[in-house]
Amino acid sequence: MIKKGGLVFFVVFLLVLPFTAHTENFTIRFSHVVSKNSPKGRAISYFKNTLEKRTKGRIKVKVYPAGILLDDVAAVGAVKNNIIQMASPAFSKLGLYIRDFQVFDIPYLFKNKNEIHNAYSGKIGNILKEKSLSSGFRLLSFWDNGFKVITNNSHPISSPEDMKNLIFRTMGSEVLALQFQLCGAIAYSYPFSNVYELLKEGVVDGQENTFNNIYSQKIHEVQRYMTISDHGYLGYAVIVSSKFWEKLPVSDRKLIKDVLRQTTDLEYTLAAKQNFNDYYRIKNDTSAKIKIKELDVEEKNRWKKYFKDHYDEFSQIVSDDIFSEALKLN
Ligand code: LMR
Repeated sequence: MIKKGGLVFFVVFLLVLPFTAHTENFTIRFSHVVSKNSPKGRAISYFKNTLEKRTKGRIKVKVYPAGILLDDVAAVGAVKNNIIQMASPAFSKLGLYIRDFQVFDIPYLFKNKNEIHNAYSGKIGNILKEKSLSSGFRLLSFWDNGFKVITNNSHPISSPEDMKNLIFRTMGSEVLALQFQLCGAIAYSYPFSNVYELLKEGVVDGQENTFNNIYSQKIHEVQRYMTISDHGYLGYAVIVSSKFWEKLPVSDRKLIKDVLRQTTDLEYTLAAKQNFNDYYRIKNDTSAKIKIKELDVEEKNRWKKYFKDHYDEFSQIVSDDIFSEALKLN
């Protein structure tokens, strides 16, 4: 027989139980394609270490860097099926699942990082979050890399027309294919881990990426010309499997979100710093011999006009509300 005091204790215990049920151990498998030392790689290490520390190892994060487990497109499928729980693919790659992510690829649609961050935190971010939910994953955070530049092995590029007849590796979105097609060039999509070899072997002539991705993959060592075009934005969506997320206790969801918020602040700083530093590392790498072309204001305006004249075509790829919202941010 339970005594009165014992009964009160038992009822209180039952009421408190749902809020204190922290005992389940589990592992989050997190895949990405860049190196451990990239801004994204470092941010994911921070996320792992902080989450493991705060839960005293109850939640573990197993990180698969540099595409050792999956390329990004496969990783999104694996997240949907809860084979892995988290990934942070480039928007261009998510664009294969949800076309609206490609808004960030449209050349010169966003002028600077401020506009990009306003897109993350405003209506564009909300639309992308809603569409992710109906695709089987939850978009927890937006991360930065930076604006892209163009490299190639054939000749200096000063105008979009200079890309005529060249073959470029891209991250695979329709917008990126159209961007190169409008210049008379050809775009092929390949996984990130193959880019160095493809350029070295001359399978493709060029590629577009940020300074830190170029430097970390030693792309500048196998390319002769770089044009600082800053034409499109490389950013990431940190996604988690809905099947996994929905089974987590509220307290764990809160904790993961909290750690991710701190990680995101750090990631923004790391991305900005590393792109800045890697630009100078590339420029000062005398053994690499890459020639860097900075566009002057007039040249840059010509690039902008060249692509803006085709916004009707680009806008067909994403939904009307996403495109018009992006224009409002200018
Ligand atoms: C690429 O494939 O070039 C990028 O998506 C790699 C990355 O994750 O930054």
